[in-house]
Amino acid sequence: MAQSNIPSTCFFMILCLSLVIHTQSCDKSQSRSEKAALFVFGDSSFDVGNNNYFNTSSRANYHPYGETFFKYPTGRFSNGRLIPDFITEYAELPLLPPYLQPGYIDYRKGVNFASAGAGALLETRQGFVISLKTQIGYFKNVSRLLREKLGEAEAITLLSKAVFLFSVGANDYSFLFDTNSSALDSFSREEFVGLVIGNISSAIEEIYKTGGRKFGLQNVRPMACVPYARVVAAAKYNMSCLDQTTPFVQSHNKELSKLLLKLNNQLRGFRFSFSDYFTFVKERMDHPLKYGFKEGMVACCGSGPYRGIFSCGGKIVKEYYLCGNVSEYVFFDSAHPTERAYQQFAEQAWNGKASLKGSYNLKQLFKS
Ligand SMILES: *[C@@H]1O[C@H](CO)[C@@H](O)[C@H](O)[C@H]1NC(C)=O
Ligand SMILES: *[C@@H]1O[C@H](CO)[C@@H](O)[C@H](O)[C@H]1NC(C)=O
Ligand SMILES: *[C@@H]1O[C@H](CO)[C@@H](O)[C@H](O)[C@H]1NC(C)=O
Ligand SMILES: *[C@@H]1O[C@H](CO)[C@@H](O)[C@H](O)[C@H]1NC(C)=O
Ligand SMILES: *[C@@H]1O[C@H](CO)[C@@H](O)[C@H](O)[C@H]1NC(C)=O
Ligand SMILES: *[C@@H]1O[C@H](CO)[C@@H](O)[C@H](O)[C@H]1NC(C)=O
Repeated sequence: MAQSNIPSTCFFMILCLSLVIHTQSCDKSQSRSEKAALFVFGDSSFDVGNNNYFNTSSRANYHPYGETFFKYPTGRFSNGRLIPDFITEYAELPLLPPYLQPGYIDYRKGVNFASAGAGALLETRQGFVISLKTQIGYFKNVSRLLREKLGEAEAITLLSKAVFLFSVGANDYSFLFDTNSSALDSFSREEFVGLVIGNISSAIEEIYKTGGRKFGLQNVRPMACVPYARVVAAAKYNMSCLDQTTPFVQSHNKELSKLLLKLNNQLRGFRFSFSDYFTFVKERMDHPLKYGFKEGMVACCGSGPYRGIFSCGGKIVKEYYLCGNVSEYVFFDSAHPTERAYQQFAEQAWNGKASLKGSYNLKQLFKS
C-alpha cells in the first residue's frame, strides 16, 4: 500500500514544485482546491447528535432511530441520514460531527450546531435545547479559533467560501400551540412571526459580520396535519388537524422570502439558496404515490391514531408500533420524515430550480 502511494506522492511533489516556481506558493494552491466548508444550524431536521451531550428529553439516541443507515442510534430523529448528511455527500465533504461531540473536530470542513427542538426564540423549549442564539455563539467561537489557527486572511477566505445552512422556525410555532403558550395572548400573529424572522435575520447578520457570505435556508413545512399535530388537535381542540398553525406557517414563509430578498439587496456579496420545504412536504403528504411512497399521513413508528403519539422507541410511552418497510413512509416518527423523504428533499435543494428571485440551488452556492 505504501509503495503504491509513492508515484502519486512524487507526482504531487513535482506538481507543487512547479507551482512554487510559477505561483511561489504550493500551500495556497492546495487550499484553493479545498472543498467549501458547511456550517449547520437549527432543529431536528439537521441535528446529528448535539442533544446527546446535555441533559434533555429531546433526544433520539435509542432504538430504532438511526437503524436503517447507521445501524445504531446516533441522535438523529429519523431512521437514517438527515438533510445535511446528504448535502455533505453531494459537496464531497465528510459527514459533519455535532459540535458538542468530545474530541478533535476539524472546523475547516465545518461543523453541525443544530439541536432538536430548537427554534429562533429563546423561550422555545428553553432548557431542553441549544437556542439559535447559543448556536451562533458557538459558531463565533469556532470562527475565532479558525482565525487563530489559519490567520486572518485564510480564515476570511474559508468563511466567505463556506455555506451556512439553516432549518429553523417550525418549533417556535409548534411550541406555541402544543403548550397553548401565553404568547398566543400577548402577541398578534404578525408580531410573533416578526420576532421569529427577526431572530433569523440577526443570526444571518452575525455570521455575515464574521465573514460568512453564502446562506442556505428552507421555509417551514405544513404543520397542521402531521401525525403528532393531529393527536394534539384532537385532544386539545377537538379538531382533526391543528389548523391554527396554518396562518402562522404561511405568514412565516412569506416573511422569510421577503427577508432573503431584502438581505440580498442590502448585504454586499451575500448569496443565498432558498428551498421550498413547505411545498415539498405538502406534495408528499397529499400525493405519496406520485413520489414512490405508500403513506404520507401516518408515521412508520409510534402509537395511537396515525401513530401520532410520540412514542417511537418506547422511552415515553412503552408500547409502540414499528412499520415493516420504512421506505414506504414519508414520516418516520410522529413528527420527523424518513431518510428517504430527506434524501429526496436534499436532492431537490442541491440540484433543483431556484424558486425565488436571486436564489441559487445548493450546488451552485457551493461552487460560486
Ligand atoms: C436531567 O433533567 C431531569 C429533568 O429536568 C432531572 O430530573 C434530572 O435530575 C437531570 N439529570 C441530571 C443528570 O442532571
Ligand atoms: C431572539 O428572541 C428572543 C425572544 O424570545 C430574544 O430574547 C433574543 O435576544 C432574540 N435574539 C436573538 C439573536 O436570538
Ligand atoms: C466562547 O468561548 C469563550 C471563551 O472560551 C467562552 O467563555 C464562551 O462561553 C464561549 N461561548 C459559547 C457560546 O460557547
Ligand atoms: C389557551 O387555553 C385556554 C383554556 O384552555 C383558552 O381559554 C385560551 O383561549 C387559549 N389561548 C389561546 C390563545 O388559544
Ligand atoms: C367534538 O366535535 C364534534 C363535531 O365536530 C362534536 O359532535 C363533539 O360533541 C365534540 N366533542 C367535544 C368533547 O366537544
Ligand atoms: C420497501 O418499499 C420500497 C418503496 O415502496 C420498495 O421499493 C422496496 O422494494 C420495499 N422493500 C421491501 C423489502 O419490500
